[in-house]
Amino acid sequence: MASLAFLLPGGFIFLSFFFISADAATKFYQFNIQVNNVSRLCHAKPIVTVNGRFPGPTVYAREGDSVQINVTNHAQYNMSIHWHGLKQFRNGWADGPAYITQCPIQSGSSYMYSFNVTGQRGTLWWHAHILWLRATVYGAIVIMPKPGTPYPFPRPAREETLVFGEWWHADVEEVVKQGNSLGLPPNMSDAHTINGKPGPLFPCSEKHTFAMEVEQGKTYLLRIINTALNDELFFAIAGHNLTVVEIDAVYTKPFMTSAILIAPGQTTNVLVHANQMPGRYFMAVRPFIDAPIPIDNKTATSIFQYRGIPNSVLPTLPHLPSPNDTSFALSYNQKLKSLNTPTFPAIVPLKVDRNLFFTVGLGMNPCPSCVNGTRLTASLNNITFVMPEIGLLEAHYFNTKGVFRTDFPDKPPTPFNYTGAPLTANLGTTKGTRLVKLTFNSTVELVIQDTNLLTVESHPFHLHGYNFFVVGTGIGNFDHNKDPAKYNLIDPPERNTVGVPTGGWTAIRFTANNPGVWFFHCHLELHTGWGLKTAFVVENGKQADQTVLPPPKDLPQC
Ligand SMILES: *[C@@H]1O[C@H](CO)[C@@H](O)[C@H](O)[C@H]1NC(C)=O
Ligand SMILES: *[C@@H]1O[C@H](CO)[C@@H](O)[C@H](O)[C@H]1NC(C)=O
Ligand SMILES: *[C@@H]1O[C@H](CO)[C@@H](O)[C@H](O)[C@H]1NC(C)=O
Ligand SMILES: *[C@@H]1O[C@H](CO)[C@@H](O)[C@H](O)[C@H]1NC(C)=O
Ligand SMILES: *[C@@H]1O[C@H](CO)[C@@H](O)[C@H](O)[C@H]1NC(C)=O
Ligand SMILES: *[C@@H]1O[C@H](CO)[C@@H](O)[C@H](O)[C@H]1NC(C)=O
Ligand SMILES: *[C@@H]1O[C@H](CO)[C@@H](O)[C@H](O)[C@H]1NC(C)=O
Ligand SMILES: *[C@@H]1O[C@H](CO)[C@@H](O)[C@H](O)[C@H]1NC(C)=O
Ligand SMILES: *[C@@H]1O[C@H](CO)[C@@H](O)[C@H](O)[C@H]1NC(C)=O
Ligand SMILES: *[C@@H]1O[C@H](CO)[C@@H](O)[C@H](O)[C@H]1NC(C)=O
Ligand SMILES: *[C@@H]1O[C@H](CO)[C@@H](O)[C@H](O)[C@H]1NC(C)=O
Ligand SMILES: *[C@@H]1O[C@H](CO)[C@@H](O)[C@H](O)[C@H]1NC(C)=O
Repeated sequence: MASLAFLLPGGFIFLSFFFISADAATKFYQFNIQVNNVSRLCHAKPIVTVNGRFPGPTVYAREGDSVQINVTNHAQYNMSIHWHGLKQFRNGWADGPAYITQCPIQSGSSYMYSFNVTGQRGTLWWHAHILWLRATVYGAIVIMPKPGTPYPFPRPAREETLVFGEWWHADVEEVVKQGNSLGLPPNMSDAHTINGKPGPLFPCSEKHTFAMEVEQGKTYLLRIINTALNDELFFAIAGHNLTVVEIDAVYTKPFMTSAILIAPGQTTNVLVHANQMPGRYFMAVRPFIDAPIPIDNKTATSIFQYRGIPNSVLPTLPHLPSPNDTSFALSYNQKLKSLNTPTFPAIVPLKVDRNLFFTVGLGMNPCPSCVNGTRLTASLNNITFVMPEIGLLEAHYFNTKGVFRTDFPDKPPTPFNYTGAPLTANLGTTKGTRLVKLTFNSTVELVIQDTNLLTVESHPFHLHGYNFFVVGTGIGNFDHNKDPAKYNLIDPPERNTVGVPTGGWTAIRFTANNPGVWFFHCHLELHTGWGLKTAFVVENGKQADQTVLPPPKDLPQC
């Protein structure tokens, strides 16, 4: 069947449709976690992969399918995999964050992630959710709509997946260990990548350049994923505009833009019309950073190549927003709106049962053995999260005492001028495995407030188990009296990861209708590691179908 697909005039991408049966079905995947030598930028090094592929295999499914992924761990690291953005209704056992919903899969063991794809279609992704292993262990998830349900936009001639990443010459775990022992941020990455390849602006990269062939006059769908560990990215194609149609597997009102902004954890689908003079055009990514923080600002490229144009033609670079272009970032995010049609409604909670206000804090704690005598740290509402030693979901399900507390404060202990003059003081934070308990089906509003503790910075926050609506955002301190009046409660963007603006705030709303324990964290791996995280314990509902499912028999033990 696969060879037939190659004969189709539309090109080999139709392969993916062949693998997706028309009816709801069970899709099975075998993931072998292993170590392979991979060469990039003139260096070869062993990296952890899935099935020897980098990026890993794309998981294809259709809305309504059951998916079973048997993960067998042949690497030296204990491992867990997160299916980022899958709602996992009642089924946190398949969510994946290590020590939150499961113990890791130990070297030599297997675990079957089983889940149903319900009420979602679009682009998501999967990645390792332990240590910094997601630097190389990641791949796309493509969920096709139910049979007979077309996209709410013209059918593209072809689809392509573009996965952005970060590459280190050194072993990433060694880089992190060194940073932690010195008390400094670990070395920044050496390159960005598109589909695992940095592109020809880097040395030794001619054969590590991704290219997609297009035909003049046709329209293509790009499924874009930012898997970078620490960098928000701008993306553009020279000479071509992009039409955004979906974010985080939720359709949006289409709008045209010269570039997109995508935070770690987010996905964005765009249509691109190959309407220019046939040629070779660079597709490029480079970070957005509007805080005084050194980051890897190098540009990765791949090629949008019109059919019949020889490789000797030099591609042109797109005009990307400058790395500190805050106004582009704010205006881009303001254009994102849910499609909100009868078929794809935006069901925004209008009444709020529980108001939460979390401050994001960076800080320095004393560390006598560190170079500067201090170690960088991070907190939410003045609490640095401490990872437990067994899975929190298991502790919740079996009512094991002493593993976590549910007294995470609804607001900061002492209000202060959050984004005022720099607050460089030692945070003096409280450490703890403290969670927020939510009543089943209650409606929640959470305002995430950046602060000037150490420095302001943009933070992409990810909630597991749910999508949420981004009802408002602003610069400066959130004003409880004035800002809610400006909320968009009609068609706000619905997503699973949101960038809180530098020195600003973001308000999200969701209905707590998925029982379980759900991680909530900054998706900058640097900050997650420093403790910028907590979790929600959503209680069971009264009915049998509103309770956490029993754990699978092969659930890994610690
Ligand atoms: C990977 O390369 C290193 C040298 O760079 C070599 O020692 C090692 O045997 C290789 N491993 C595999 C699995 O090929
Ligand atoms: C998962 O893969 C391992 C290793 O191949 C195999 O032993 C195990 O039976 C598989 N589990 C399931 C449920 O298929
Ligand atoms: C998936 O759906 C089937 C059929 O409704 C159900 O029996 C099963 O429990 C579901 N599995 C999960 C993990 O939700
Ligand atoms: C981090 O960078 C420094 C300076 O370039 C280098 O000396 C060090 O070896 C790097 N650390 C790792 C773990 O690669
Ligand atoms: C892209 O959009 C801008 C603004 O709408 C427009 O001025 C420009 O001509 C468009 N470029 C292309 C290549 O379509
Ligand atoms: C990238 O950062 C370097 C310093 O690390 C700076 O010299 C350079 O101008 C920056 N590039 C851009 C495009 O901002
Ligand atoms: C952005 O960076 C450029 C140099 O790369 C600098 O000239 C400009 O002042 C910066 N803008 C802001 C708002 O910081
Ligand atoms: C550590 O100390 C050096 C030298 O005093 C300084 O340049 C650097 O900014 C300090 N780093 C941090 C994270 O405090
Ligand atoms: C907060 O700090 C900023 C900058 O220092 C200042 O302009 C503002 O007036 C302060 N707000 C309050 C309520 O004190
Ligand atoms: C954080 O809590 C500590 C006590 O645990 C307190 O000393 C400190 O002032 C608090 N910081 C803030 C910013 O609330
Ligand atoms: C959740 O609450 C809403 C009212 O806020 C109600 O309409 C809905 O039926 C409830 N859902 C469940 C599963 O209890
Ligand atoms: C993997 O987990 C087991 C059980 O918790 C532990 O004994 C072992 O040290 C871990 N291995 C690594 C490399 O962390």
